Amino acid sequence: MFANRVLSGMRPTGRMHIGHYHGALKNWIRLQEEYECLFFVADWHALTTHYESAEVIEESVWEMIIDWLAAGLDPARATLFIQSRVPEHAELTLLLGMITPVGWLERVPTYKDQQQKLSDKDLSTFGFLGYPLMQSADILIYRANMVPVGEDQVSHLEITREIARRFNFIYGREPGFEQKAQAAVKKLGSKKAKLYEQLRTAFQQEGDEVALGSARELLDEAQNLSMGDKERLFGYLEGSRRVILPEPQALLTETAKVPGLDGQKMSKSYNNSIFLREAPEVITRKVRTMPTDPARVRRNDPGDPEKCPVWPFHKIYSDDKTQQWVQEGCRSAGIGCLECKQPVIDAIIAEQAPMHERVQPYLDDPSLVRSIIADGCERARKLAGETMRDVREAMGLSYT
Ligand code: TRP
Ligand code: SF4
Repeated sequence: MFANRVLSGMRPTGRMHIGHYHGALKNWIRLQEEYECLFFVADWHALTTHYESAEVIEESVWEMIIDWLAAGLDPARATLFIQSRVPEHAELTLLLGMITPVGWLERVPTYKDQQQKLSDKDLSTFGFLGYPLMQSADILIYRANMVPVGEDQVSHLEITREIARRFNFIYGREPGFEQKAQAAVKKLGSKKAKLYEQLRTAFQQEGDEVALGSARELLDEAQNLSMGDKERLFGYLEGSRRVILPEPQALLTETAKVPGLDGQKMSKSYNNSIFLREAPEVITRKVRTMPTDPARVRRNDPGDPEKCPVWPFHKIYSDDKTQQWVQEGCRSAGIGCLECKQPVIDAIIAEQAPMHERVQPYLDDPSLVRSIIADGCERARKLAGETMRDVREAMGLSYT
């Protein structure tokens, strides 16, 4: 139940570009090799800001999923689904809303930031204020403990942890907790029970975090415990309450930032993107027409890669030897700009070749994509349903 589970979501913004690929997707693809992963299309999240352009969302969802598959997300390894098809997310959002102080939401830095940035939209809505709460529900409903996100999302993970803590504090209380926990320790078997007690003492008396981690691992692997006993023993490590909703961690990965073709942020709306599954001729044309160091007016003028939008692409796509060739050739006017761009063009085309190949069956038969998502939604609903059963019970809603 608290085993290493990864969850992340992406808002449907249409076709994916190489910035999305290097910034997030590539990391997801790596994670699916190692962990149980759930990845979803955050269509409700898109509505919090784009409620007036619902048609864009509708078109974007499938395009985005097809790009995920092209990039290498593997439905046999990762569960891929759409948020709005797992309506339990809405139920948990509602229920967590009961215990979430409005001040917590108002203080999330992205709240004011985004309102300022997107000043053409009226974002003084209940839905927009509740965005981080809905994100918390997305994560907690799968009891995910690792959430790969960008820097900008760290505050959302923070509030998720706070909400989980508050939930466990309020609802994890139960009469006779101590006795029930001790009975559960016995069920571990004498050897493991002894180890559990030792690790618990090490954490409670000396604050030994490593011991806490080992104890959690021990519980993860314990197979003969019921869900309720597991919740008790996780909680017993730290205090006197059950842990119904475990606190997740942000998984911040060093990802290469891909700027746009003009050196600004890569964004579909700036018209400076290279998309995934782009035709080789288009990639060639887009890179060949990129601006370069303005000092290089003529072929003989030396330049400085640091002042050229092409250089960040070399940093992502070229090996040391090629990078050195660029540095020397640019500064000495030994190479021309088109010559300099060619290795980048070749590398992007090579990166996308397997994507074209992978996506073909889905383009030939779109019903394949529909059924992958139907399967994913079903799997997600099952997991979400298990958590909801616990949550309803804890909140006094499972009466008959
Ligand atoms: N808010 C995230 C973004 O804008 C998307 C998202 C929604 C998400 N729910 C999530 C990411 C849950 C991680 C986990 O990028
Ligand atoms: Fe940019 Fe390369 Fe031209 Fe230098 S040689 S200005 S790095 S494209």
